[in-house]
Amino acid sequence: MEAPPLTTRPVPLHPGVPGLGNTLAFLRDPLAILRTLQQRYDRIVHLRIGGRHQYLVLRPEDAKHVLQENHRNYGRSPAFQVLKIFLGNGLLTSEGDFWRRQRRLAQPAFHRQKLAALAQTMVSETASWLTELNQSNRHQPINISQAFMDVTMRIVCKTLFGSDVVGRLDGLSTALDTLNYLANDRMLSPVRFPMHWPTPTNLRFKRAGIVVDSFIYGVINQRTQLASSDRDDLLDMLRLAEDEDTGERMSSQQLRDECVTLFAAGHETTAVSMAWTMHLLTQHPDVTARLRDEAILHLGSAPLPPPEAFRSMTYTMQVIQESMRLYPPAWIMSRLALADDPIGPYTIPAGDTALVSPYLLHRDPVSWPDPDRFDPDRFAPGWDKERHSYAYLPFGGGPRLCIGNQFALLEMQILLGMLMRDFTVQAASDRPVITQPLITLRPKRPIYVRLS
Ligand code: HEM
Repeated sequence: MEAPPLTTRPVPLHPGVPGLGNTLAFLRDPLAILRTLQQRYDRIVHLRIGGRHQYLVLRPEDAKHVLQENHRNYGRSPAFQVLKIFLGNGLLTSEGDFWRRQRRLAQPAFHRQKLAALAQTMVSETASWLTELNQSNRHQPINISQAFMDVTMRIVCKTLFGSDVVGRLDGLSTALDTLNYLANDRMLSPVRFPMHWPTPTNLRFKRAGIVVDSFIYGVINQRTQLASSDRDDLLDMLRLAEDEDTGERMSSQQLRDECVTLFAAGHETTAVSMAWTMHLLTQHPDVTARLRDEAILHLGSAPLPPPEAFRSMTYTMQVIQESMRLYPPAWIMSRLALADDPIGPYTIPAGDTALVSPYLLHRDPVSWPDPDRFDPDRFAPGWDKERHSYAYLPFGGGPRLCIGNQFALLEMQILLGMLMRDFTVQAASDRPVITQPLITLRPKRPIYVRLS
């Protein structure tokens, strides 16, 4: 680690509007602002967003410092308080010893051998989804953003909770969308009315929350009613885990919080990433042709290819990695500084927020020459030896690294591999695709494609 400097300099303050600071600019076009900040400042910049002082780090080594090397100095930022409104106190939002215990309980469900067993379910869910796509009207453009949302929802429910969601997808999707928009607005707004006030926004929040809760409680109750369950999936691991000291099991509220968290964190990120990948592929027929060749070579024509077949599809993985470089679903992460933290000649003050942006680091021309160009060959074997380990962090880093990273990569490889083998994909419109950075980085309008 760098030795602390003898003097500290004030962190450069990015000019804003009196009273509102940089809030409006961040509401309008946060990605453009990030690019400007990257060009204008060298190491760290002071922003005022949503009535709070926030310090954005611009270098991979400082991102590593915040997320990993000095992680003990950082807690969940106030943004997570907003997420808590609908996620409760689950893995994403909890902290301290409680978080450590819950993470220890959930981790085994994501071990390599466990994933190998889940891959079979992912393959069969993908196969039935492809059959449905095949039966849909070939001449009509398909809303592939929504199609991926549906299939990732099914996969997460089936693999982690052993439950089918067929027939309940529409309402759930809409409710989750509403929660995403409202939580995002609340994070950025300098004025936040208490949640128990019956404002129209709070009521919409509440209604969407009820839809998600009734679904999750349905899944939990279905399982609890089984006299004996030997499923050994995530739901049972959490449900049956006993406290080492007291022998108590998780309360139903806690189980609900963990399930909602895994459900919300586990499907939308993956779906959004797949939608971006489709968009990129429609623009790059050369990459699509290479993908298709690889899929046909490794998967043959078996309706249910063996899960091991996907392991050697290295180009498919490179395409996924490059797509998440350009469009990382988790485009920004925030932490609360618990004590003053010196970073080079600067200090992040206690009580303020540190920001780390995968979007910004993934488009840093120092780490990624010609950063806006889509080029999966950047991820050819050995790519990680050439650059800083935090130059690429779609799944975050340090102890709060995404628990589902290997799950997501495997799922995306299966979805993309089987889709490419069975279909050719073309853009259905030449309207430009616009980014919309909410809690996740999505395309503003759904992406439509033609499959043949
Ligand atoms: C492309 C897909 C995904 C992306 C890009 C992604 C990204 C991330 C990132 C960046 C974090 C760290 C947030 C922070 O440190 O502030 C995170 C945490 C988390 N993710 Fe993912 N994720 C994905 C898929 C999944 C899946 C499939 C699951 C579960 C099935 C999942 C469950 C979680 C959970 C529970 C956390 C909180 C972990 C903790 O703090 O202990 N994610 N994810």
